[in-house]
Amino acid sequence: MTIAIIGATGQLGARTIDALLERGVPAGDILALGRNTEQLQSYANRGLRTDALDLDDVDATAAQLKGVEKLLLVSVGTPGQALGPRGNAIEAARRGDIKHVVYTSALQAPTTILSLAAEHKATEELVAASGIPGTFLRNGWYTENHQQEFTSAREHGVVANSIGDGRLATAPRKDYAEAAAVVLTTPGHEGQAYELSGDHAWTYADFAATASQVLGQPVTYEPLTPEQEHEQLLSFGFDEPTAGFMVALHGDMRDGALAPTPGDLARLIGHQTEPLETTMRSWV
Ligand SMILES: NC(=O)c1ccc[n+]([C@@H]2O[C@H](COP(=O)([O-])OP(=O)(O)OC[C@H]3O[C@@H](n4cnc5c(N)ncnc54)[C@H](OP(=O)(O)O)[C@@H]3O)[C@@H](O)[C@H]2O)c1
Repeated sequence: MTIAIIGATGQLGARTIDALLERGVPAGDILALGRNTEQLQSYANRGLRTDALDLDDVDATAAQLKGVEKLLLVSVGTPGQALGPRGNAIEAARRGDIKHVVYTSALQAPTTILSLAAEHKATEELVAASGIPGTFLRNGWYTENHQQEFTSAREHGVVANSIGDGRLATAPRKDYAEAAAVVLTTPGHEGQAYELSGDHAWTYADFAATASQVLGQPVTYEPLTPEQEHEQLLSFGFDEPTAGFMVALHGDMRDGALAPTPGDLARLIGHQTEPLETTMRSWV
């Protein structure tokens, strides 16, 4: 049985391939589709089937998916313009006769206040409308999104943003990837939506305390108002739309959009998610 991955060349795709191989899927049963030819070549060197992806060409993508049973559709596409390529991928899957689509969505996509999730909700609706049995992996936040702040905390001893007491239930990409591999290799997931997040929701005060411990040097958290953060981002050289986007995202985080800890991720992978401290230690 072949498993195709659209978005195989990205970081989540790469970790999902590792997880599939670790679960004993033969390399030749994985079809990696992506645009990055170097990354595709490295997969081909490991024995995977690979092909260059052009989601503007639905016929060609449908032809690549012929005879494939399962498709992992990673949420490809630039935010704000993602529905085009995702919609084309789903149409190609329909024409290619895919039997099961697994889509990497966003935590609580249908109901969340997280503005980033609107295109995920719309993509879930496209999957449902396609008639192909689907599974939604509603991924929460990656711990790795905070590596840059950790590096900055190491240099300056302070982390500052407007997230305040907002909690973030993060997990590293490899945990989400393992969940994808479980769903792609075990039966009974069609029609399911999983709310995937880390087991422990931390605040920035926790982040600073953990960073202090890991680095062996003082790190403090400085809460900012949204206005202060906006000014600071502009002073750091971010343009107005980016600064506005980040302040709005941090507002959603402050309001708890990424705090839920329903435990679906640990249940799927059969172990606790990796704690923040462990991931931080891997950055030192
Ligand atoms: N949960 C979170 O914290 C979080 C954070 C950031 C993003 N995300 C979402 O999760 C997805 C996967 O994360 P990631 O870390 O693997 O991202 P990533 O490393 O940036 O990988 C993105 C993948 O999307 C592909 N892609 C982008 N636009 C495409 C297009 N128009 N047509 C075909 N392929 C396209 C890239 O292909 P090539 O490399 O071959 O060009 C790559 O395979 C992201 O795309 C984003 O939607 C989630």
